[in-house]
Amino acid sequence: MSEQHLGVIVLAAGEGTRMKSSKPKVMHELAGMPLLGHALSTAHSLGAAHVVAVVRHQRDLIASYIQDFYPTSVIADQDEIPGTGRAVECALAAFPADFEGAVVVTSGDVPLLEVATIEALLEAHLDGGFAASVLSTFTEDPTGYGRIVRDETGAFARIVEHKDASEAELEIDEVNAGVYVFDSALLRSALSKLNQANAQGEKYLTDVVTIALAQGLTVQALSVEDQWQVAGINDRVQLAEVAAELNARICDAWMRAGVTIVDPPSTWIDVTVQLAKDVTIWPGTILRGLTTVGENATVGPEVLATDVEIGEGASIVKSHASSSKIGAGATVGPYAYLRPGTDLGADAKIGTFVETKNAKIGAGSKVPHLSYVGDAEIGVGSNIGAGTIFANYDGVNKHRTVIGSHVRTGSQNVFIAPITIGDGAYTAAGTAVRKDVEPGALAMNVSPQRNLADWVLEKRPGSAAAAAAKDSKN
Ligand code: UD1
Ligand code: CA
Repeated sequence: MSEQHLGVIVLAAGEGTRMKSSKPKVMHELAGMPLLGHALSTAHSLGAAHVVAVVRHQRDLIASYIQDFYPTSVIADQDEIPGTGRAVECALAAFPADFEGAVVVTSGDVPLLEVATIEALLEAHLDGGFAASVLSTFTEDPTGYGRIVRDETGAFARIVEHKDASEAELEIDEVNAGVYVFDSALLRSALSKLNQANAQGEKYLTDVVTIALAQGLTVQALSVEDQWQVAGINDRVQLAEVAAELNARICDAWMRAGVTIVDPPSTWIDVTVQLAKDVTIWPGTILRGLTTVGENATVGPEVLATDVEIGEGASIVKSHASSSKIGAGATVGPYAYLRPGTDLGADAKIGTFVETKNAKIGAGSKVPHLSYVGDAEIGVGSNIGAGTIFANYDGVNKHRTVIGSHVRTGSQNVFIAPITIGDGAYTAAGTAVRKDVEPGALAMNVSPQRNLADWVLEKRPGSAAAAAAKDSKN
């Protein structure tokens, strides 16, 4: 069938009361994307001419997400009449008036549904000449779902919502996945006939099926074996269950692609992350957003990386990093905090208890211990002494520190920005560097040390220190 005769409607107007959240349900995150992002990404993969998302609850928030990430979607507003049937009615009004063909309906809260599953439903729908096709699944716990009611012959009769179901109907283990294909003509005629005479006082989309059968049209319920694909998220318990399942699937796929994941259940990888082969991921690692990891790199244990480019053969241990770049062969951590704009060169090092921000650290340069490096540029092959602070903030403005190549700075320095230290320069331990240092110079401003002999014996008589000093002199 041609794309011109295919439309997709994604339902996202509901409040999601069971989430008990100030955020709309479909904006809750799963593996790095809102639930709605998963549904829209699938919807757009079908290649339909029209993808319409229906919104109402917190409309502007959801609409702006859609415009930013799926700008070719059409946004339709649902009015005050509640229910999935009304939502589809409002969406259909956004289609061209002369649209004819198949309309796929999916839900913004069913994130694991795969494109191939919808394609199979669509194909069976078109091949069989059905007016409506419903995706179903058999489940051990049908609580909350609409049940597929079949007649004595096993033919599909209707869908009854959990809240409207009789005792006997509640026993049915075939449930409505909330994914459908409808003939556009049926939808147009049936939607206008929906009433709100049910337990929830809503216009149920599921009643369209009953109307189709009453008109003598044919309807099918096609079941999918993989229950996870149709799992709808209504509360945070289900969100966590689906998240764990999706994560297991993401980890499986990466392991099959050549990544070693030592402990998949404690490793969380967003759908947007990219990993090269022979990457090793140790337990307790969370890779988020647009993070990429190059070949042979080692990540973890206990790393949180968001939008970080990790180069080939790099190693990062027990650290947090965001919007940063870690060069090939570089090492980070343990206990490092790489804030946005950190750009660590090849074979360079950010060591233990080091915080960096907006800092370009050249190839082979090292910041090994206990330092803050903010708003800085360090050349190649330089070494920053332990316990160094790049004092970038004068209380009003931020200033830059520029350090050349092959510089050696002493322990416990303060670089008071703006400041420049030339190539090959040294600084003495304990120096507060306030003036630029020319290439090759040694900077020091530490006053000579004075030892006041017997100060402790005179000023702290009777103390343990005085006694120890006395003992050592005797
Ligand atoms: C719905 C189905 C149920 C099915 C289940 C599968 C109906 C009447 N029931 O129930 O048979 O088993 O999905 O997950 O359709 N929405 C709107 N506007 C509304 C109400 C809901 O756009 O007025 C959207 C929601 O944002 C959500 C989707 O429709 O994305 C489903 O709504 P929800 O309230 O979760 O329906 P269920 O009770 O789960
Ligand atoms: Ca639902």
